[in-house]
Amino acid sequence: MTRLGVGIVGCGNISTAYCELAPMYRSIEMRACADLDSDIAAARAAEFGLTACTVDEVMARDDIDIVLNLTVPAAHSEISLRAIAAGKHVYSEKPFVLSVDEGLALKLRAKERGLRVGSAPDTFLGGSHQHVRSLVDTGSIGKVLSATAHVMSRGMEHWHPNPDFFYQPGGGPVLDVGPYYITNLIQLIGPVARVQAVCTTPFSEREVTAEERRVDRVPVGTPTTVHALLEFVSGAVATLGTSWDVHRHTQPFMELHGETGSVSLPDPNFFSGDVSLWRSAEEPDSLEAFSHPFGVTNFEDNNGVPRANYRAAGLADMAMAIQENRAHRCNDALALHAVDVMTSILAAGESGAPIELSTTCDRPEALSAKQAQALLVEASA
Ligand SMILES: NC(=O)c1ccc[n+]([C@@H]2O[C@H](COP(=O)([O-])OP(=O)(O)OC[C@H]3O[C@@H](n4cnc5c(N)ncnc54)[C@H](O)[C@@H]3O)[C@@H](O)[C@H]2O)c1
Repeated sequence: MTRLGVGIVGCGNISTAYCELAPMYRSIEMRACADLDSDIAAARAAEFGLTACTVDEVMARDDIDIVLNLTVPAAHSEISLRAIAAGKHVYSEKPFVLSVDEGLALKLRAKERGLRVGSAPDTFLGGSHQHVRSLVDTGSIGKVLSATAHVMSRGMEHWHPNPDFFYQPGGGPVLDVGPYYITNLIQLIGPVARVQAVCTTPFSEREVTAEERRVDRVPVGTPTTVHALLEFVSGAVATLGTSWDVHRHTQPFMELHGETGSVSLPDPNFFSGDVSLWRSAEEPDSLEAFSHPFGVTNFEDNNGVPRANYRAAGLADMAMAIQENRAHRCNDALALHAVDVMTSILAAGESGAPIELSTTCDRPEALSAKQAQALLVEASA
C-alpha cells in the first residue's frame, strides 16, 4: 500500500487532531500545510514536521495527492473546487459545503476529472456505531420504524478561542454538529425523503469566555435552537432536537426503535460509547462482545472521560479506496445528502412548510473490524 501525500489547507484547531492521528493509518502521509495566516501554517508545520506552504503551493505540489480541507465552513466549497481544478482529490471537514448547489458543482467537476471527493464526519465508522449497524443489518430490532436524536448544549463560546463562524450561516447546531447525527441516521436507516422544522434564535450576541479567546463577543446570524422531523425513504420517522441554548439535559443521544426491539447509541460525535439493546420492555439484552479497532479507547478528554478517537479514518479509507479502485465510505453523495437534509431543515424552519429533499444516496458500506484493522499501520506488519 502506497501512502498518498496529504496537504492540509486550514491549520486551525482541528488540524492538530488530524496531524496527531494520521500516522496510525497506512494509506496516508501528511506532507505540507497552508493557511491564510502563514504564521499558523509555519507553527503547525514545525510541530508535525510538515512543509509550510501557501495555498497555491499546496495545490501545485507533485507529492500531494489529496488536499485536506480544514478551513472554516464558508471556505469549504472554494478550497475544494481549487483542489479539484489542480488535479487533486479532496477530503473536507464537515459541513461538506453550505448548499446543495455548491455540492452538486463540486461533485460534477470531480467526476469530470476522475477525482475523489470525501467529507467528514467519519465518527459513524467508530466501533459503537458499527456495532449498531451490525445489529440493524442482522435484524436484531427488525425494520427500523422510528428514531430520536438530541444534540443540545450551551454552545461553543466557552471553549473555542474564535467561535465567530459557529454563529454565522454555515454554523449553528444543525450545520455544525448536526452532520454527526444526520450522517449516522443515514448510515443506519438510509436516505431521507422529507423534513419539517421549527427554529429560534433567542440571543443576538454571545459572550466569549474561552480561556485563550481572541474576541470578547460574537454576533449571532443563524438559528441556535432547531427542532426537526425527518421522514426516511424507508418509511421510518425521526425527531432531531438541536440547540446551543440548553444548560443541561437528560435526553438520550440517539435511539432507534424497530419492529422487534430498540437500541440506544452513544454520542455520534464520538467513535465509541455504550450501546444497549432492548427486546423486552423490562430488561436490556446482554450483548455479545463486539470487538472493533475503532472502538478501542486511545485518549482521555478534557473531563477525564476515556474515549476512542480515530479521526482521519474517513480520509484513510478514501486513500485506500483510491488505490483499491472501490467506493469510499465518507463519500460525496452521502455528504451532499446530509447537506440537503440540514439546509432543508433550516429552510423548513424558516418557511414553516415541509420540504421534499432533492438528493438521495446509498447507505455507505459497513466497516467491519477486519476492514478497520486493514486501515491501520499494525495491519501491514
Ligand atoms: N474544532 C473542532 O473541534 C472541530 C471538530 C470537528 C470539525 N471541525 C470542523 O473543522 C473545520 C475547521 O474548524 P477549526 O475549529 O479548526 O477552525 P479554526 O477557525 O480554528 O481554523 C480554521 C483555519 O482555516 C483558515 N482558513 C480559513 N479560510 C481559509 C482559506 N480560504 N484558505 C486557507 N486557510 C483558510 C483560518 O485562517 C484558520 O486558521 C470546520 O469546518 C469545523 O466545522 C472542527
